[in-house]
Amino acid sequence: MTNREVVALAHGALMDVYACAPIALERGEGAYLYDVEGKHYLDFFCGLAVTSLGHAHPGVTRAIVEQAEKLTHVSNVFHTEASARLAAELSRRFGDGRVFLCNSGAEANEAAIKLARRWGASRGSRYEIVTALNSFHGRTLATLAATGQEKYHVGFQPLPQGFRMVPFDDLAAVRAALRDHTVAVMIEPIQGEGGVVLPRDERYLDGLRELCDKRGLLLIFDEVQTGVGRTGKFFAYEHWGVRPDVATLAKALANGLPIGAAVATPQAAAAMTTGAHGSTFGGNPVSCASALAVLSALDSDGVLENCAAIGGYLAERLRAIAKRIDKVVEVRGKGMLIGIELRHEARSTAQACLEQGLIVNATAGNVLRLLPPLNLTRAQADEGLAIIRRALGAA
Ligand SMILES: Cc1ncc(COP(=O)(O)O)c(C=O)c1O
Repeated sequence: MTNREVVALAHGALMDVYACAPIALERGEGAYLYDVEGKHYLDFFCGLAVTSLGHAHPGVTRAIVEQAEKLTHVSNVFHTEASARLAAELSRRFGDGRVFLCNSGAEANEAAIKLARRWGASRGSRYEIVTALNSFHGRTLATLAATGQEKYHVGFQPLPQGFRMVPFDDLAAVRAALRDHTVAVMIEPIQGEGGVVLPRDERYLDGLRELCDKRGLLLIFDEVQTGVGRTGKFFAYEHWGVRPDVATLAKALANGLPIGAAVATPQAAAAMTTGAHGSTFGGNPVSCASALAVLSALDSDGVLENCAAIGGYLAERLRAIAKRIDKVVEVRGKGMLIGIELRHEARSTAQACLEQGLIVNATAGNVLRLLPPLNLTRAQADEGLAIIRRALGAA
């Protein structure tokens, strides 16, 4: 089929919720994607921060095939070696964590929210969760209610109650928002969808930890986008040396197969007793086998070091480009999560990149977001930089 034929078929059959590019992708290899007509693209998007090891990663593909040939599903009525080994690996990385496996970022955050509610229910009927403005936590009703962007709420009211929003990066605002019924604080260490926003206050995460400890609250970090090495560390919170009570992961965990995880301290996880929560596909052995291959590649192939080095190189070259033109407010990020804040809307620049064979993403109106594979080479970085330079009119 041609691009046009696939697009026409999709438009006649799918709900129209996505602003989909009129391109049908057929295969991928490493940092490159190929459409059904053979045109290739350099991928600085990774399907929204998911295929962090690149497309068709041999180790991941082998793990998926081997597991699929043995067993694809048993439900949580039984154990599988793949889900047990993945839970043990995530537990170890978090530090004696207790893991709930599910299928997406929203579902992982939903589990964290439910855990906080259960934990608070036995501590004086506490239920309210303080979240940040400009955040993004997912599209289910509860995670939407936790999301601090009203544009996503339109038409879905009434949303579940029990969330109070405060500005990001403002410790005093969190302190002022606490009530007797507050149970948790939930934030992204770096706001991804909100425009790659890092806390400018170096003490912000540490201050949240201290505040939560003092007031007996759970600290929840949504690492759905920042986790699994995207910023150069397995969890982004490691950059600040602050461990939460609950961390959520999804996106890159299985390099493309659906998966999500909420990892909690044993004390917090004790609230989730038998029957408290569940998910038919959670811990699916094929997704778990894929995730185990991802974790093994992160450990053995120097991927995190490459992410920090090439991510740093990209940011430095982008800052040099920004100096030569008057279109860029700021280049910011960590590792391979990079935002280029423009003085104008970002969609037209993303489109100009796409036309020249580079996939990048526009978010928060005026931010060009780069989410390249963590194993991007220097030559591929230069190839992408040349296209961005031209698209910004700086060539
Ligand atoms: C920080 C964060 N949390 C949650 C989600 C929701 O994840 P999913 O789309 O897998 O439900 C996203 C998705 O972009 C995200 O960036």
